[in-house]
Amino acid sequence: MNYPKIRMRRRRDGDWMRRLIAESAMSADDFIWPLFVHEEKEDAPIESMPGVSRLCADGLLRAADVAMAAGIPAIALFPAIPAAQKNADGSESWNPQGLIPRAIAAVKSRFPQLGIVADVALDPYTSHGQDGVVNESGEVLNDETIAALKKQTLMLAAAGADIVAPSDMMDGRIGVLRDALEKAAYSRVKILSYSAKYASSFYGPFREAAQTAAALGGADKRGYQMDFRNRREALEEMRLDLSEGADMLMVKPGMPYLDVLRDAAREFDAPVLAYQVSGEYAMICAAAANGWIDGDKCIIESLSAFKRAGARAIFTYFAPQAA
Ligand code: PBG
Repeated sequence: MNYPKIRMRRRRDGDWMRRLIAESAMSADDFIWPLFVHEEKEDAPIESMPGVSRLCADGLLRAADVAMAAGIPAIALFPAIPAAQKNADGSESWNPQGLIPRAIAAVKSRFPQLGIVADVALDPYTSHGQDGVVNESGEVLNDETIAALKKQTLMLAAAGADIVAPSDMMDGRIGVLRDALEKAAYSRVKILSYSAKYASSFYGPFREAAQTAAALGGADKRGYQMDFRNRREALEEMRLDLSEGADMLMVKPGMPYLDVLRDAAREFDAPVLAYQVSGEYAMICAAAANGWIDGDKCIIESLSAFKRAGARAIFTYFAPQAA
């Protein structure tokens, strides 16, 4: 019997004591703030993500200003483009005059110190909503997709992206993209691989925000995104991406996948990041709006859980609030 010699509560007695021995800490430095941009003249609120809008050009600069003031190191940009600009091969994704390269240039010229993450994937640009090139039977073609991602990546690097983040889950793309960046003298551009990205229904609000839901229709992404029954497979994916030249790895979604995050953080010395995705954001907002949970407290608790599990940084739509 250890009691009463050992009383665990002694260490929880008083705020100063708890602060002194906390096992993990979190600050604004831990956040990457995902932002949606569109071509319209005004910001447009996203219904399933209260407080989040598709931003116009001015709105993006306002958000970048907020990020700078809050000490958030980086933003991540996602486009919502009109259906008329989408096609089967997603060719708008490598247009150097496109929405994203213009957004990167605008932010970089005003806020050169703010890191910019640019997503590498075709889904916002394809008429079928898949992250890649498809054949007649609707199959997503791996190597043909990589060829397109390579064009997109080089365009994003030329536009000034600091980090390219392939979120497509094609096999072998990290090696090809790293090689292409090296050959084009973009060796400073970092690759953050969405290595363990699961085929998840928690992406629902994002697909409304990025206007990819309608294009996708009833189809799904299970042929390339991971099966949510698997954990060890995530480590295989991550090991491959590191060997191909990824600088950082990501697990996505976040809270339902903390076990995967924990395993990955233990296994690898490279930074492993987590993405608190749109559905997680929506759930917290909805419950808070009903008065069922304390929103502010649940935001901090959920983000702290990522740090405790070993996340080096966190993508979260709550970034400015949490900061
Ligand atoms: C698409 C992409 C998705 C997200 C980030 N990049 C959605 C998808 O795979 O359909 C989801 C992010 C979120 O839900 O917040 N390449």
